[in-house]
Amino acid sequence: MIPIVDDSFAGFSAMLAGYRQFYLLAEAVRSGIVDAVEAGSDTPAALADCLNLQPDETGRFVDLLCTLGLLQQRDDRLGLSPFSQRFLSRASTENQRNTLLFEPLLIENWRQVGTILQQGQGALTQPQPQDAYHKRLELFQASMAEAASVRSAELWHALAPLLPPQGIIMDIGAGEGAYLRAFLQRYPDWQGIACDLPDVCVRIMCQDLPGKLTVLPCNILDQQEFSACTAAHHGTAGLVLLSNLLHCYGPQENGALLEQAAGMLTPDGLLVVHDFFRDANLYGALYDLHMLVNTWNGRCYSSIDTSALLQEVGLTHTRLIKLPSHSWAVLASRSQVALHRDEL
Ligand SMILES: C[S@@+](CC[C@H](N)C(=O)[O-])C[C@H]1O[C@@H](n2cnc3c(N)ncnc32)[C@H](O)[C@@H]1O
Repeated sequence: MIPIVDDSFAGFSAMLAGYRQFYLLAEAVRSGIVDAVEAGSDTPAALADCLNLQPDETGRFVDLLCTLGLLQQRDDRLGLSPFSQRFLSRASTENQRNTLLFEPLLIENWRQVGTILQQGQGALTQPQPQDAYHKRLELFQASMAEAASVRSAELWHALAPLLPPQGIIMDIGAGEGAYLRAFLQRYPDWQGIACDLPDVCVRIMCQDLPGKLTVLPCNILDQQEFSACTAAHHGTAGLVLLSNLLHCYGPQENGALLEQAAGMLTPDGLLVVHDFFRDANLYGALYDLHMLVNTWNGRCYSSIDTSALLQEVGLTHTRLIKLPSHSWAVLASRSQVALHRDEL
């Protein structure tokens, strides 16, 4: 996604054909080419042979993958580029292969932006049959966890100078717990609590749980249920994380959510809203439209609106941290000192 910077036809053409790059990326993986190259098939002919593909067409496709930078050729032998080694190789801890499978489920709603403009947000969000719901949930959570493998490292690196050596971290809307696992690996003296819907908590518990990680199944939209959860943890958390959660809901739900979340903080605890923000960059602005077509009432907020919401719930001090891969973190606390420990 590149913002328009001039009136060049090259810019127009790149925008027009933007979708083609996604299909190339997805097919490079789906066809088995990425796996086969990694396993040692290092010519187009060998690839066509082992994957049962047409030789000429495979040659042209592979040429394009090289031009694009997904594959590279050295001494006439094909290999994965550093980009593919990082994001497409099964062996990489940062591989994003489930995300490639999830994205096509989202494209259908993007094709119907016009329906939303005519009928309003929520027009495309219909209840799904159980099977489809579970398949979608699985891919959604897996792709979130893949993105988290990169984003959590960026977030925890940026927050490192502000964190005390031990405490309790409460992750609300924790997904499969990727942020918490990465956090506890860095900070083994902290304890982590993953709060999410019961269906999702079951998925967390199916994976290896580090000793310091517990789960808190809870529907945060159910005021009674969420109040009971937060009351049990009132004033105990040194860190409350809401990562990519506020964009799922409207301002009213988020006001209530932040009020409860703030109550769980210790007096100098930090609340971290990690998200895409409308005023951050084109990615954040585009994500707002993504929420418009794909959710009932989700939206991307500006970092300024988010800071104001946090101040309304008594977290009078806020600070903005910009991260390398489009997302930002708005930090909030009752304590000015806690927000600026790195400057002491
Ligand atoms: C967009 S995902 C973000 C996951 C993770 N925090 C991350 O940044 O990758 C939003 C998470 O919030 C959870 N969530 C959404 N609505 C919820 C609710 N009403 N109660 C509890 N959890 C909820 C979802 O199940 C999902 O795991």
